[in-house]
Order: sequence, then structure tokens, then C-alpha cells
Amino acid sequence: MENIRNFVIIAHIDSGKSTLADRLLEITGTVEARSMRPQYLDQLDLERERGITIKMAPVRMVYHPQFLNSKSEFLNKSQSQSSKSLEIRNSKLELADSKQEFVLNLIDTPGHSDFSYEVSRALTAVEGGILLVDGTKGIQAQTLSNLRAARKAGLTLIGAVNKIDLDLPQLLRIVKSVADLLEVSEREIFKVSAKTGAGVKELLAAVVEKIPPPRMSNVKSDMENGNSNSMSHPPLSRALIFDSLYDDHKGILAFVRTFDGEFEAGDEAVLLASGAKFKIKEVGYFAPETKVSKSIGTGEFGYIATGLKEPALVKIGDTVVAHGSRFMVHGKELALPGYKEVAPVVFISFYPDGATKFEDLKRGLERLRLTDAALSFEPDANEALGRGLKIGFLGQLHFEITASRLKDEFHLEFLTSFPSIAYRIVDKGKEMVVKQPQDFPDKPEKVWQPMIKLEILTPSLYLNQVVNLKNTYDLVVGEIKNLGENLLIMGRMPLSELIRDFDDRLKSVSAGFASFSYELNGEELADVLKLEIVIVGEVVAALTRIVARKDVEREARSTVERLKELLPKEQFTQAIQAKAEGRIIARETIPATKKELGNFGKNSGDRTRKMKLWKKQQRGKERLQSMARVELSPEVFREILKK
Ligand code: GTP
Repeated sequence: MENIRNFVIIAHIDSGKSTLADRLLEITGTVEARSMRPQYLDQLDLERERGITIKMAPVRMVYHPQFLNSKSEFLNKSQSQSSKSLEIRNSKLELADSKQEFVLNLIDTPGHSDFSYEVSRALTAVEGGILLVDGTKGIQAQTLSNLRAARKAGLTLIGAVNKIDLDLPQLLRIVKSVADLLEVSEREIFKVSAKTGAGVKELLAAVVEKIPPPRMSNVKSDMENGNSNSMSHPPLSRALIFDSLYDDHKGILAFVRTFDGEFEAGDEAVLLASGAKFKIKEVGYFAPETKVSKSIGTGEFGYIATGLKEPALVKIGDTVVAHGSRFMVHGKELALPGYKEVAPVVFISFYPDGATKFEDLKRGLERLRLTDAALSFEPDANEALGRGLKIGFLGQLHFEITASRLKDEFHLEFLTSFPSIAYRIVDKGKEMVVKQPQDFPDKPEKVWQPMIKLEILTPSLYLNQVVNLKNTYDLVVGEIKNLGENLLIMGRMPLSELIRDFDDRLKSVSAGFASFSYELNGEELADVLKLEIVIVGEVVAALTRIVARKDVEREARSTVERLKELLPKEQFTQAIQAKAEGRIIARETIPATKKELGNFGKNSGDRTRKMKLWKKQQRGKERLQSMARVELSPEVFREILKK
């Protein structure tokens, strides 16, 4: 255990975590040079396409400190390149015994706030971390929120500023701000280039030197409790599931961090929360691909092939126990702290489309949930689109990524509804939480909406533009503080504003430099209305939305106008109306297809006969109008729901 180090790299999005991990894989020889490719740990196609990490990725590396002095051509070249322009004063390390071998378990984590649940799970599985800051941007919003989470988890942190191969006029200021943040001296902040490898060896040596070996758990074994029978049994083995994956042959693979004992193929094991029992089919490490091994030792990372096929049985945050049947009596005490369930903030319904059936969509989501513990869903139905699933997301990017993964990895076709959030209301004296806009009453007595606390970091150059976002969004700007090279703006805003593309707007007003993170922060009374769309007298429930009173006229107008463009003409007149608080607030009409009434040709007889025919047609038309129903086609839905 003394020679094991478990650590994460945490940072704001695009700071270079995955690139730094590449260099670590190279230095430790974990991945052969010919197999190396950029962002090696980003295994999903989507991660490579978008250049962002979505999933945490564990990898086990073996490190020999003597590598530190070896003359790697690659590293020497890059070192000398960068030291031309910069004086690199990273601390030199002297390890007591340079012949030792260390096992380094690294978890690369995502940087976007929508995936902070992934980060939080990684944090509980390690003892330390590298806090990486982009040298071209300085401290960013996610740097702060990840730092707070890492501190809460009690991690030992090492600060590093990345991208020193670039011309960084602000470098010294940034180093100082990171040092201030971590409350260490500037000399303790590493200056590295994940791209060229400059300074990375020294950083890795610091990981070994400064991050403590794995902590032991505090469970008392039977032996310590004075139960002499346990002498003949192997000691308890216990591990926390931090992630999982579905394998067609081996069943669900539980990705674990062991806190006590060892696990081996053939061991009988139990999952404490679900109660599922299984015989371990296989164990192994992450190389970073899964690699079979004889056992996974105490304090290490690895995977356990459970053979279980039912996704609901293997819950992320659950504890796996082996060799501990007698401990089951106190099963509860054995459970590791696990994870807080995350609460989704945005709800979007998915409906099968094309060749995809409802069951396919459900199965796809169940499989996806194994690798995305933040996903939650429940059944839903729509008059035009049929049975679907309402999915809860942690944010807009989480939704976009999930939709892409369902398409790419599971080849599913589907349509999605408008995003919505949950409101607490009082209606007719009764209090309830409404998640579906169509369940929202016309005139509730009171409505509370979830609020968020925002932290925006921006260079001072864009301060005005960022603060002026309060003219477009319901944003209350609070305290503004200096934070090294950036300004930290605190704010408060309704959660519903976030799904109106706040992220994109912030990026565009600050040339991409401002960043933000948020957390739910209570609720406030809200002035919102239910906006319904009525077509030929019938409410189209799937188009119902909850809108702020100030925006309702604009939204109403644009929706009816758009529908007028999209709906095909029918033999009857189609009235398209938008309704709020029982009043029609916008209206468009699509006239009936023109078929000249009364024009029965030259030889159609006398006037009386013509009148008779005309009246008959008129009656037919009235009957048609009274029976008229408009079924919105999936194509129209697809168009109207587009952002
Ligand atoms: P997320 O996982 O999406 O949060 O990003 P990340 O932090 O893993 O960053 P990633 O490694 O994907 O790097 C982001 C971008 O910065 C890529 O275009 C990298 O090539 C670039 N980059 C990373 N490190 C360096 C560096 O040291 N120097 C330069 N010039 N570019 C770098």
C-alpha cells in the first residue's frame, strides 16, 4: 500500500487534463509509443469528436522513479524548447529509494459543470489530485468548484499551470493566483506543457512524493472484535463501485476502488444495496483498456466482472463485499459511504421515431445509465408521438451528449420535447411539485421556482458585457471580486434561465473567455404562466410550456407564426391559438384549401339547382369543420421543437 498513489486530474474544461494524462501514460510506458494517440483516455467516439471528456477514465500506471533521470529524447527536446523563453523552476525531487516501483492509479475527469457528478465520484476514490489551470486563461469557474469539492473530500492537491509552450505574458500572475488559491508558495506550483511534456516528469514525481498512500477503512474485522472463528477465513474484502460498464459476455463490470482486502475470480460476493449475490467471473485493472489479473489488491482500482445482466442490480455508489458472509448480519455498517444521488434539473421527453420501438429506447437508456449514473427517467406519453420516456438531466450539455450517445452507440432514433424544470406550487390550497408543463394549473395561487447561485469568472475586459447579460436574463449580479487575472462575479438567477442558452450567450459576449459554474440555491416565488397551443380548438399538450410572464407574448407569437408556416393546408380552416391564464394571446389562421364553391360548370342547370348544390356543399363544409382535427405529424413536431 505504501507504494500506491491514487489521484485525479481536475480542472476547468479544455485546460489540458486529457493531454497531460497522455504524457503520463507515455512517461510510465503504460501505452506503447506506436499505439499512442491524442487524448488516449477519451475512449468514446463522441469525446474525440467534440474534444471533451464526458466520462471519468481510470488507468493504472507503474512508475519507476529512476525514469526521472533517464534521458528521454522526447522530453529533453521539449524541455529545452520551452526553457528558452521561460525559466522553469519546478522543484527537484529526491525520492528515498530510486529503485522503488510505484503503482499510480489515475482518474481523468470531465471539466464541464454538467459532469461534476463524475468528478465528485472520482474524488471519493482517491487521496490526491493535480489541480490543472490553463495558462492562457487562468483560474476559471470549474477550477474553483472542483477545488472546493476536492477540499471537502480531504484530498492533497498539487497545483500546475499548463500550456507554457505558448507565449504567456500573464504566467507569473497566474502562478501567483493558483498559489494563493491553494495557500502554498509560488515555488510549489508546477509549470508544465502537457503538449510538449515540459515539466511533466517533475510533476509526476511530486505526485509520488506528496500524495499520501491509500487510506485504510475503519471496519473492524471479526478477529479484532474477538471472534476467533474468523481466523480460518480470509479477511473481509470491501470495495466501492464508482462506475460500471455492460459486457455481453461477462455481464456488468463494476469499476471499483477496494478499501479492504482483495478480490479474485471465483470469490462469492454480494452487493450491499441491491442484495444481489454473484460469483466473481473475472477481475482486472485498467491499462487503460480492461486487463485481466489474478486479483485486485487493497487500496487499488480495478474492475469486477459480476456476471449479472440486470442493470438495476449494480448501482454506482454501492459496496461490494467478499469473504464476509458473517459480516452480513451488520450489513448496514459495512456499506461504504457511497454517493449522494444527484437531482436532475432539466427534464426532456424522448419519443421513439423511425425504426426504433419504445422498448429499444428503454433498453438503450438502461444500458447507458450503467455508464452515466446521473441519468434518471420515467414513462411519458404524447398524443402524436406515443409512448416515450421523460429523462432528467444535469444540464443542457448533459442532454446533448446523452442524445448523441443514444444515436451513435445504440443506433436509436427519437424525437425530443421542450426542456422543462420542476416547480413547486399551491393550487386550490394544495401544495405539489409539477414536473410536466401540461399538469400546471391555469391560475395557481403560488409558484416557486428553483434558483441557482452562479460564479462567473471573466477577464476584466469583458466585465460590462457579462454584467449586461442581466438585461436578457433574469440575473441578479452580486459581489464582484478580484481573483488574480480574472474577476469573480457572483450572481443569482432562476434555473429556467439556464436552459435559455445562457452558456452560449456568456461565451459569445466574452469571446469565449468567461466561464461559469452553478449550484442549486433554494427557491423563490415565480411569476410564470402556462402557455398552451390550441389548434382547431384542441390543446396540443406536447407544446405546452411554462414561460415567464414577461416573455409570454413573444413566445406565444413566435410559436403560432412558426406553426402557420409548418402546418399543411386542410379542407377546413385551421385556427392556431396561444392561450395563457384562460385568454387567447396570439392567433394565426390557415385558410382551407380553395375549392370554388358554387362553380358547377356551364351546363350545370338552372339557378335554383345551383343554389341547392351550393347549400349542400356549405353544409358539408360546416360538418367537416365541426369534425376537424389536426394531428401534428412527427415532422412538424421535429421542426417546432428545434432550438
Ligand atoms: P475536457 O476533458 O473537455 O475538460 O478537456 P481537457 O482538460 O481534457 O483538455 P484537453 O487535453 O482535451 O486539451 C484541450 C485543448 O488544449 C486541446 O486542443 C489540446 O491540444 C490543447 N492543449 C492541452 N495541453 C496543451 C499544452 O500544453 N499546450 C498547448 N499549446 N495546447 C495544449
